[in-house]
Amino acid sequence: MTHFHYKENILHCEDSPVQEIAEEFGTPLYLYSKQQLLDNFRSIDGAFAGIDHVTCYALKANSNHSLLKLLAEEGAGADAVSSGEIHLALKAGFDPTKITFAGVGKRDDEIEYALKKNIFSFNVESQQELDVLNAIAGRLGTKARIALRINPDIDASTHPYISTGLKTNKFGIDISYAMIAFKYASSLPNLQVDGIHTHIGSQILKLEPFMQTAQTVVNLVKELKSIGIDIHHIDFGGGFGVTYKNAIKHPLLPVEETNGAEEAPANDIFISSVLPILKTAGCKLVIEPGRSIIANTGILVTKVLYMKDNGVKKFVIVDAGMNDLLRPSLYNAYHQIVPLTVQQRESDTVDVVGPVCETGDFFARDRELPTVERGEYLAVLTAGAYGIVNASHYNARLRPAEVLVNGVKVRVIRERETFDDL
Ligand code: LLP
Repeated sequence: MTHFHYKENILHCEDSPVQEIAEEFGTPLYLYSKQQLLDNFRSIDGAFAGIDHVTCYALKANSNHSLLKLLAEEGAGADAVSSGEIHLALKAGFDPTKITFAGVGKRDDEIEYALKKNIFSFNVESQQELDVLNAIAGRLGTKARIALRINPDIDASTHPYISTGLKTNKFGIDISYAMIAFKYASSLPNLQVDGIHTHIGSQILKLEPFMQTAQTVVNLVKELKSIGIDIHHIDFGGGFGVTYKNAIKHPLLPVEETNGAEEAPANDIFISSVLPILKTAGCKLVIEPGRSIIANTGILVTKVLYMKDNGVKKFVIVDAGMNDLLRPSLYNAYHQIVPLTVQQRESDTVDVVGPVCETGDFFARDRELPTVERGEYLAVLTAGAYGIVNASHYNARLRPAEVLVNGVKVRVIRERETFDDL
């Protein structure tokens, strides 16, 4: 998180002190760094140097309009999983010919909407979907450009809820059935078979599963060519992991224990590990990163409401809850939590919990944290991806505001909700 850093012991986003922003805009508050977003996108997109490609940002990670606009201006494409996401992408200025549409359960009206917008590719996930798409395209007198999503049965060693490339997952078409499915797709009059799509999971930290997948896809392109089916693009999906522990280091912050396997390779390393393999297919390349572009561009700022010691455990109760950031509750995900001012002070082992009426409403359990005081602010780091998009009204709580920092400038990019929004 190079654009979140302590300057004279005070946490800054770029050139702006986070505490001043929290005081001005209130908490819970999502706060993003513009420069971090641009750096992340450029580190991925730039790694393709000279190869025909599109980096389609996965909107599901964070679809804030202002953030999307910045990516559209950078020339990014968009990976959408609903007609709503296609709508948001178009509204933010993404070129329709750079939009892909994945998902195991596309409704007929969503397919019709995407066909009318003339998107780049439908990433089709089942044989029945091929039939439906073919029929709808026929009715509209058009042809649908498609890629078939292949499930390569490769273990990405990630949390079971976000693994997608195993036989037991609902996604894609089993690799052993791929040739039959491609032949079938090519026989349908209103489909234009253009690509192969794959996405094996999210928060993947090892390079091997990606390299194995790349080889599987390249082999399939060659096999298809041998029976006269020409593949023009490979959509390699997303899934590049990020580092959640020790995201910010400071001599006055506890060092978070890692088993060494929790550190993510740099963005460009993910690309350069698969590029030599993928290049051999001679196709246009598409990737769909979400987390690796947006996760470390954002933090969630929250205020300490109460401290409580029940003799067994100590709790720090904050004003953000699982309705604002669901990841710890849903995946037991780890987010580093830091005070906005570091100073010499005792530390404690605490649970950081929210106000929601669920025991699962926590941000950290048994976490060593510098001792904090009521009214102090904390930052939950690396919260830009799958944060605000999963926020809900649970317990009739208002969704947080979002602000974007650009140097010393700060602007609201989503207003805090009011009772009228409930
Ligand atoms: N493409 C497809 C088809 C996907 O399903 C996903 C994510 C992506 C691209 C982007 O993956 P990324 O680069 O962000 O890893 N809510 C979970 C993550 C769910 C990922 C769903 N699919 C979390 O908070 O960890």
